[in-house]
Amino acid sequence: MEISKKHENKNVDVKVYIDKLRGKIQDYFKKDASGHSIDHLERTLNFALYLQSKEGGDVVVVGISAFIHDIHRIMSNEQNRFVSPKESLPVVEKFLEELDITFDQKQHILYSIEHHEEYSFSDGVKVTDIESKILQDADNLDAIGAMGVIRCFKYGIAHNVIDYDPTVPLYQNKYREEDVDASSIHHINNKLLRLGKFMNTKTAKKIAKKKTKLMKDFIEMYIDEFTCKISEE
Ligand SMILES: [Fe+2]
Ligand SMILES: [Fe+2]
Repeated sequence: MEISKKHENKNVDVKVYIDKLRGKIQDYFKKDASGHSIDHLERTLNFALYLQSKEGGDVVVVGISAFIHDIHRIMSNEQNRFVSPKESLPVVEKFLEELDITFDQKQHILYSIEHHEEYSFSDGVKVTDIESKILQDADNLDAIGAMGVIRCFKYGIAHNVIDYDPTVPLYQNKYREEDVDASSIHHINNKLLRLGKFMNTKTAKKIAKKKTKLMKDFIEMYIDEFTCKISEE
């Protein structure tokens, strides 16, 4: 899908669009049990608007794409298989139908959502437009830190992933998206700890630092507690 850079500025507050979408999205995302709830969308929106204020880009494209980017997760739950963001685009288009946005903005939103999970450590398309970069960063910022840890364990419970498997080493090699992590702790170690470095924007890299440190400390303490190591320090 091609995107155009020529967006007309309609001078509309992005919150007007979000308020229009919120009711419909709340109903749709009630079905979620995988850590991709409406709360994740609200937090992704919040990060996305903050990043847009620092990094630029079309605020309408950034805001709307952040708020409806994970429709494919609900479709995956319903169909009991992985539904890709690309496959979800016809449903995304339905949500966009009643919004007074330009054709270019609509195409751009669909493009950003289609590519939002193609991060630089997987082999997919690397996005170059600031709006898609911001969506990826906002989504990844909510996958790390305290909230990221909770979401990771919630996902694990929903998908029968164990908390920790001490028989599998916590490897430090390059992360491959197709690898199945042995436990939630492995997922935090193998993927989430790396996300900060792979953020697209400078602002997101800065925000990720503290969150990454917290996850490192969490894993360290978890392993100590799991192995009954006692420390008075
Ligand atoms: Fe997603
Ligand atoms: Fe997401």
